[in-house]
Amino acid sequence: MLALGLACAGCLDSGNIPGVTTDPEAAAKAAFPELPPAAEATQLKDRGSKMFNGLGCQSCHSTTHERNGLMGPPLGGVSDRVLERKDHDPLKARRWLVMHIKDPLMYPSPFADQADYKGTHMPPNPRVTDEDLRALVEFLWALR
Ligand code: HEC
Repeated sequence: MLALGLACAGCLDSGNIPGVTTDPEAAAKAAFPELPPAAEATQLKDRGSKMFNGLGCQSCHSTTHERNGLMGPPLGGVSDRVLERKDHDPLKARRWLVMHIKDPLMYPSPFADQADYKGTHMPPNPRVTDEDLRALVEFLWALR
């Protein structure tokens, strides 16, 4: 739909990239049709860790519980926080992380309302493939 495309300028050219699902909710289901089997977890986390740096996430987020003067909230323990907000359902929580990473304005975290973070916008990531989102989220999931 044209109106939706215009509302999401960064998403306009993401439609034809192989492996990229444009709609965040559909992408979340494509990335996580079910929970990843334990055997896959280590491999996903290693790949996700490289993506975290490659996509510039580390410029705004620490991976510990200290903010370290960065613009975004620290991501240590993020899975516990998201689980709490998503009925303690690990699949729903992972899917929310995918949607948030793709389109943080549409799916903001509670931090967006805090004075400390107001006015700082996490940039959207409309061109990351569903497979890569799966790896990135498994990396985040393991941050303690
Ligand atoms: C320009 C700074 C910036 C960049 C770059 C950035 N973020 Fe964020 N991020 C924020 C801010 C600010 C918030 C809090 C407001 C919000 O929810 O949008 C946030 C929130 C989050 C949250 C929610 C935390 C929670 O406890 O619910 C996650 C997860 C997250 N970011 C992951 C990422 C990932 C993964 C990347 C890289 C693809 C990334 N961020 C890149 C600034 C950034």
